[in-house]
Amino acid sequence: PGPTVYEAEDATITAGVVESNHAGFTGRGFVNYDNAVGSAVEWTVTAATAGPADVVLRYANGTTTSRPMNIALNGTVVSSGLTFPGTGSWDTWQTRTIRVNLIAGSNKIKATATSTDGGPNVDRLTVG
Ligand code: GCU
Repeated sequence: PGPTVYEAEDATITAGVVESNHAGFTGRGFVNYDNAVGSAVEWTVTAATAGPADVVLRYANGTTTSRPMNIALNGTVVSSGLTFPGTGSWDTWQTRTIRVNLIAGSNKIKATATSTDGGPNVDRLTVG
């Protein structure tokens, strides 16, 4: 099977809002994380079989300061302070990819801001 797209606006949002005022997103919009440590988006991802999978986060950061986030899989941080550097504008989207070991069935993938700037704007997560 090809990659599966999970829109951020359909995920569980902690301290953030769905917006659509910057171009280039997919789906209905993107998540604007609150500018605070701990703002987060959590996706539920289904895997047919256990094993490694590429997880691609699509984001925009119109500042020149990275907006690091911890990436947790099923409650365990698997990438600590992953950097989300500036993309040049809030309308310019780039991706960050990490490889994680999914379990068969339902998995929780959570991206939590670790700086007071909060997370970048996040459009979606793609798996596979
Ligand atoms: C601007 C921008 C938002 C962004 C915010 C931020 O307000 O329009 O989309 O989320 O900056 O700094 O987080």
